[in-house]
Amino acid sequence: MRLGILISGRGSNFEAIANAIARRKLDAEIAIVISNRANAGGLDIARERGIPLRVIESRGMQREAYDKLVIDELRTHEVDLVCLAGFMRLLSASFVEAYPNRVVNIHPSLLPAFPGLDAQRQALEYGAKITGCTVHLVDEFLDSGPILVQSAVPVLEDDTVETLSARILAQEHAIYPKALQLIVDRRITLQGRRAVVKEEERE
Ligand code: GRF
Repeated sequence: MRLGILISGRGSNFEAIANAIARRKLDAEIAIVISNRANAGGLDIARERGIPLRVIESRGMQREAYDKLVIDELRTHEVDLVCLAGFMRLLSASFVEAYPNRVVNIHPSLLPAFPGLDAQRQALEYGAKITGCTVHLVDEFLDSGPILVQSAVPVLEDDTVETLSARILAQEHAIYPKALQLIVDRRITLQGRRAVVKEEERE
């Protein structure tokens, strides 16, 4: 399966996916990394690893026009599955239609709690005792598509946004490649908005 990874910043989830592929935990190939920002740290990771990358600046662009450029680039690289990894833009309906149930995102909370920006800060300020992260399919709404995999993380009494974010991030790096492998193995079936995961076949 050929992955197209969309980033805006640090790129640690992209790196976790690349590591999982290198360690043969994920049977896929990164066809292209696209960043909407020229200064995204994740671009250096792609450069170091010789992974094809492209910057498509989004500043000042209309959503539909921007998404069309990205879709063209993904098609050029024959991408099967689009992975949002810290990509800080909402996708248009036409993007989602171009890749139906083929766009995945990672979000640093247990959705549907705390969608949107600063999810870790939201959980801390709300006083949640447990939060976590979610890998989900993407629709045209914010952090709202069917949930594929979640991992829970405790909120500790002395947590700061930084310490909580780091604890969640470690789980993000674990579950994102796992969720992608479930898709590669065709183990996920959608029943309405429920993603049902088929048991692993045993020898
Ligand atoms: C992660 O916390 C992810 O859940 C959220 O944005 C952050 C991206 O981090 N969507 P990175 O760029 O993958 O390091």
